[in-house]
Formats: sequence, C-alpha cells, structure tokens
Amino acid sequence: VAFVETYGCQQNEADSEQIRGMLEHCGYGLTDGPEGADLVIFNTCAIREHAEQRVFGNVGALVHTRRRHPRQKIFLCGCMMGQPAVVERVRKSYPYVDGVFSTHHLWELPQLLLGVLTTGKRVFSVEDSAGAIAEGLPVVRENKLKAWVSVMYGCNNFCTYCIVPYVRGRERSREKSLILDEARQMISAGYKDITLLGQNVNSYGKTLADKPTFAQLLHEIDSIDGDYWLRFMTSHPKDCSKELIDTIANGTHISKHLHLPFQSGSDRILKAMNRHYDRKKYLDIVNYAKEKIDGVSLTSDIIVGFPGETYEDFKETLSLIREVEFTSLFTFIYSPRVGTPAAKMDDPISAEEKSKWFRELLDVQEEIAAKRCASMVNNTEKVLIESETGKNGELSGRTSGNIIVELKGDKSLIGTFQNVKITQARNWILKGELV
Ligand code: 5AD
Ligand code: SF4
Repeated sequence: VAFVETYGCQQNEADSEQIRGMLEHCGYGLTDGPEGADLVIFNTCAIREHAEQRVFGNVGALVHTRRRHPRQKIFLCGCMMGQPAVVERVRKSYPYVDGVFSTHHLWELPQLLLGVLTTGKRVFSVEDSAGAIAEGLPVVRENKLKAWVSVMYGCNNFCTYCIVPYVRGRERSREKSLILDEARQMISAGYKDITLLGQNVNSYGKTLADKPTFAQLLHEIDSIDGDYWLRFMTSHPKDCSKELIDTIANGTHISKHLHLPFQSGSDRILKAMNRHYDRKKYLDIVNYAKEKIDGVSLTSDIIVGFPGETYEDFKETLSLIREVEFTSLFTFIYSPRVGTPAAKMDDPISAEEKSKWFRELLDVQEEIAAKRCASMVNNTEKVLIESETGKNGELSGRTSGNIIVELKGDKSLIGTFQNVKITQARNWILKGELV
C-alpha cells in the first residue's frame, strides 16, 4: 500500500490525484498514514519557508516508520524539488529518501519506482524541462463532489516575491478540446463542483495555435448541460478582462465568485512586486464585477511585510479591504524565497512589527466578513450540500460564492443543490433552513 501526502495548493492536490491514479495502475492500494506503508510520497510546497520546514520535519520523522518497516520506499516530489538547493539537502542529509522528482517529471513515477524497486538505487529526476504537458494520466479523485481540472501549468509573471515560476516553469496551456472532454466526463460522472486550475488562468490559450481566451473556454464548458457549478482560480488582476466578467455574469453554471489576489493596496509596493496593475485598475475591475454580477463574492490573497513596506503602505492595504468588502482573504506574512528578486531587497521592518500589522489586518477582515455575512440573512441561496457536520442531523454546504452554510436536514441530501433560507450569520459561517 502507498501513502501520498499533499502540501500546499489545489494544483498540488490535482497532481496528487494523478500520482494516486498512477499508483493504482501499478497495483498499489492507498492508505492514510505512513505507518506500515510500502511507499510514502510527499508532494511538497515551496511557497513559504514555513511550508518547507513542515516538510523537512515530516521527512525527518519517516526515519522511524522506515525502521519499523524496512521495505518502505520514500519519494519526494512537488515544488520544493524544483529548487536545486533543496535537492542537494535531500541528497546529503536524508539518505533514506529513495526517489526525488520535480513537477516536470510527475509522469515518470512508475518508471522511477520500478528502478528503485529493482536496483535499490536512489533516483533523482529533477532537470528543468518545462515543455510538453503529459496528457492522459490516470486520476483517483478524493472527493466525490468536487473535481479539479488543470487548464494551464506554470507562470510567466515573475512577481518578485514568488518562487512558482522557478519551480513550475513557463506557462503552457492544455488543448481546449481535452479540457472540454474532461469536463464532460466529470459532469456525467456526477461531480457537482468543478474548479478550473492554473497559476494565472487569464493567460490561458496564449501558447495554443488558435489562441482561445479563458473566457471562451469558460463559456464553452458552461454550455455543457447538467447540474453543476463551475469555478476557477487563480485570476491575475493585470489581465482579468471585462469579457471574463461578462461571461461569469451571463453564465448558467459559473459560480458568482471571483478570486482576484491584489497582494497589496499600495501602488509603490505593487510596482516593487512587479504586479503590472495599480490600485485604481484593481478597483475598476472589482467595481465592474460588482455592477455586472449580482451578489458577487470577492476573495483575495494578501502579503503583509513585503521588503520596504511601511506602515503607510500597509494602511493602503487596509483601506482597500474596507473599500472592496471581501468575503474572505488568504493572508500571508512575506517569506523570503532564495533566488527571487525580493529576497535581495532591504527589509528593515522586524518580524514582531509585521505580526502586529498582520493581526490588525485579520481584525479588520473579521469585521468585514461578519458584516457581509449578516447582510445575507433572509436571502434564499442555492446551496450545494457537501457533508454532515458531525453534529446530529446537521449538514454543511456552500453557496455559489463559496460561503459555508450549516442547516438541518437528512444526509440523503448530500450531493444535491437545495434552496436554503439564511436565518443567521455567525462570523463567516451562515445558518439556514431548507426552503
Ligand atoms: N511570501 C508570502 N506569501 C507569498 N505568496 C507567494 N509567495 C509568497 C512569499 N514569498 C502568496 C501570494 C500568492 C499566494 C498563493 O501565496 O499571496 O497569491
Ligand atoms: Fe507567483 Fe505571481 Fe505567478 Fe502567482 S502570478 S504564481 S504570485 S509569480
């Protein structure tokens, strides 16, 4: 049996589903912990230092599971393995790791595994070779309702803080016909919540012969008949088009949700981050989305404490949050990544000071999210019922805008869409009743 652990974002989750698919074809069963597993694979994340430390800590602990089960093979893959310094550290300091492969080499897993099992020698497949896309890999999907569908890989934006372009390589898009086929399959297999994935979905199609836009792709998927929601992430504000917003507004299945990371509210910092938009442009898109998409739910990523950011800059971020009124935010304290331009910039603000700003940001957002949720009380919302909450007869679901709703109901409703009247808002969770 094999154990696959995923760190990081949905892109990695999607990759792990392919890893599980390949392992199943190789004859492995899947298990939910490293103890006693014949094969352990960690699919790693490099986005912040904290993520890397967790991986190294957990790889360290595998010494013990391996001692108790000497046949255990250990593989590391994912974004961390796209960094030569990390690979060197694994080579030298973690001799019991049998195999390492970067994201470009995912499809080689069966072959690498066979090599390790037949020769007992360690394998490293980490050369930088972002080019083709391996199509047709088998997939084992963990969730019965939600499916990820990658539409493009890599990133060309080189935001100055970000390691992704270095570890996942240049942007490349999947053929539209293949994405449509996969979406059709998902819909007819009964998946209810399909998320299109890419580091920057708005650049979809640039590497393809007939240059389809992301809005066209979204519209064509949306035209497939069925009972499902269609989501996507992540959009970059620099090329989030009106065409895209109109497509969402006029869509049948497209959820009324836009995840549009702005990172900072200060024009000076946005420039230093190499983001190619300013506060005004961001607000223009957001206001257009609010105008066209009734009840649109906006979410964003934010970095606090980018090198050179002052409290004045940070206040610009706070004022932007207040102005937009996001449903929820993914907030991060800046973490220097070796090899990125920002890691070489002067960073005079102390970690304590940054933590203070960070807490201030969380307080402001909590107040806004609570207000936004409270404004939904008495609305009737379409909700996808996803699971039981563990409490007696309580179910949990999500709105089109990705807000959690708890309600009473029978578990046979799981996997269906229901109209729910919102009766109460508790911070960012809604309570409701079946209509
Ligand atoms: N430090 C902190 N946050 C980062 N992100 C990307 N790189 C870093 C970094 N070095 C955040 C950005 C991005 C999200 C996925 O992670 O906000 O949108
Ligand atoms: Fe990183 Fe910027 Fe690319 Fe997003 S758009 S993956 S933040 S470089």
